[in-house]
Amino acid sequence: MPGYAPNATFHCIALFGRLRGRRVWINASVRLVTSDHLENLLHENRHFPPSPEFAEQANASVAMYAEAVGDRMAFWDEQAGRLSWEKRWGTTLDWSNAPFAKWFVGGRINVAVNCVDRHVADGFGDQVAIHFEGEPGDTRAITYRELQDEVSQAANALTALGIEAGDRVAIYLPMIPEAVISMLACARIGAPHSVVFGGFSAEALRSRIDDAEAKLVITSDGGYRRGAPFPLKPAVDEAVADAPTVENVLVVRRTGGEVVWTDKDVWWHELVGSQSTTHDPEYFDSEHPLFILYTSGTTGKPKGILHTSGGYLTQTSYTHNVVFDHKPGKDVYWCTADVGWITGHSYIVYGPLANRATQVLYEGTPDTPHKGRWWEIIEKYRVSILYTAPTAIRTFAKWGREIPNEFDLTSLRLLGSVGEPINPAAWIWYRNVIGGDRCPIVDTWWQTETGAIMISPLPGVTATKPGSAMDPIPGISAVVVDDEGKRVGRSEGGYLILDEPWPAMLRGIWGDNERYVEQYWSRWPDVYFAGDGAKYDREGHIWLLGRVEDVMNVSGHRISTAEVESALVSHDAIAEAAVVGANDDTTGQAIVAFVILRVHADVSEGTVEDIRSHVAKEIGPIAKPKRVMVVNELPKTRSGKIMRRLLRDVAENRSLGDVSTLADPNVMALISDGLNGPSADDD
Ligand code: WTA
Repeated sequence: MPGYAPNATFHCIALFGRLRGRRVWINASVRLVTSDHLENLLHENRHFPPSPEFAEQANASVAMYAEAVGDRMAFWDEQAGRLSWEKRWGTTLDWSNAPFAKWFVGGRINVAVNCVDRHVADGFGDQVAIHFEGEPGDTRAITYRELQDEVSQAANALTALGIEAGDRVAIYLPMIPEAVISMLACARIGAPHSVVFGGFSAEALRSRIDDAEAKLVITSDGGYRRGAPFPLKPAVDEAVADAPTVENVLVVRRTGGEVVWTDKDVWWHELVGSQSTTHDPEYFDSEHPLFILYTSGTTGKPKGILHTSGGYLTQTSYTHNVVFDHKPGKDVYWCTADVGWITGHSYIVYGPLANRATQVLYEGTPDTPHKGRWWEIIEKYRVSILYTAPTAIRTFAKWGREIPNEFDLTSLRLLGSVGEPINPAAWIWYRNVIGGDRCPIVDTWWQTETGAIMISPLPGVTATKPGSAMDPIPGISAVVVDDEGKRVGRSEGGYLILDEPWPAMLRGIWGDNERYVEQYWSRWPDVYFAGDGAKYDREGHIWLLGRVEDVMNVSGHRISTAEVESALVSHDAIAEAAVVGANDDTTGQAIVAFVILRVHADVSEGTVEDIRSHVAKEIGPIAKPKRVMVVNELPKTRSGKIMRRLLRDVAENRSLGDVSTLADPNVMALISDGLNGPSADDD
């Protein structure tokens, strides 16, 4: 039997279960098979080379790969030169105290000045920085000059509240311009921010405030979601009630809803509105902390990923330029993430603003007031670059192409994806229905910890393959290795590692250096282990296979959940799929698939059997799901990552584990309902 390893051993290791934005330690019994590799079963041979027209005008060039390999430090020096420094750095990288890096040593920089003031000074004050689109339909166009005024006012207000360089500020806001302004104001005065996603609970907010010892919280009365106002302030009241470090709460008025007022509270419009619109920026060391972003949850201590200034801004600016092919003053850019996630930090705030982007900021959900809202926004602002997540793309595919087809999407010229592997079927749908078969797609792999994009095609250079993030970008080294840390060959799989430091890398875990080393640098000596499985295809390009704990082991075959999900989603009747390995007496693990059918799917009694045969045909009989469960919803985190752990509980008939990080707490009940629908057991 191919892939069968008689020497397979079981290790009980502590794994890191990632619930995006919150990650928890889980103890899992995982089969680590020495000298065995992930089965490389799914074959995808379609190539999409760039059009000559796109290639001709592209920011990226094929020469960059060789340049970066030739002299990596000189390459990064050149990228740092995109920014405006008060004092130039000396050494590019100090790695003498590995894994604690210093980039652009001795350089002095102000991140907010780079994102705002210098564009005004260069004569672009009238260019729109942000087209804000509120969910209820209210809009605001904010030029770079207005942004400079408001960031200066906010910086003055923070100083008036006693915030100094180095003090931590928690930001708990909806997707409104004040979120961006607050982050930039913090950066301007050197106060690291800790943005907490507005969907998190009071308890989650409280643990993050405590860990960072935040002195100030910036929040709002509420925001709008799904057509109705929701309150935010009560969660803050609860979180700061006995938080000793918090001196003030700065409150933006967004909904006008009633709020309970405490003596720590200050209205944004009163304090910020009355400040001077000029502010003299101070310059900070390249390694000055810029922000902390938490990625862990209620189980265990929250883990604050620390990012600093010069290196982070260099790599976010560089990647936003070459990966999105952004042309300042011409493109209209839209990243649909929330500022509460790393994608919002790096590709709404820092990268795009450093590059003088004009961008859309949307407060609400894709289906309010109708399912065409995103396409309407693209048509309205003539958006040319769209950056979103596979979960959104699959949802739109489920709703049907008729909806986007009603809108004029011809302004789009590039599409991006991030957050999880994008199945070839979703990729093709995105390219065809949204991109009109003309837009290159960049499938970008990176993490909160990496700070910026690491693996991605370069538009205009790379011939893309649907489902593959392709290659490390110039300047980055990422390798797929086996259990011993040795690079695997083509058509083989293993673990994705980063074996060279990079400018936007995390500088540690806030207040816990030991955990930083243990968590990321201890699996193999001197390399960063990203926690993801990956494989090389026959041509040597990288395919991400999800977190290593999402790898199944069926009769000694290591099969990735992503591959089986891809095969499922390529079946006509299926809109979305999640696959887990459930304990099985015979095969070690058995594949259990949870599928959502397309709205217009033609379902008959044979459908489930047909789905199973389809997977067998696409991948091989070994990957045929033992059970297929038709459900109405899948359990997801608030940022759209499927919580396979809960599905595993269902598949193994256990009571459910912690559901507190679910976006929709009712979803597990819906799944149980859905399970009463058609399903099939193995023959
Ligand atoms: C996953 C999001 C496949 C991966 C920027 C990673 C991806 C985790 C991709 C980080 C991609 C992100 N293809 N998987 N293009 N992008 N991931 O910290 O498992 O929220 O480790 O950062 O998302 O999630 P995080």
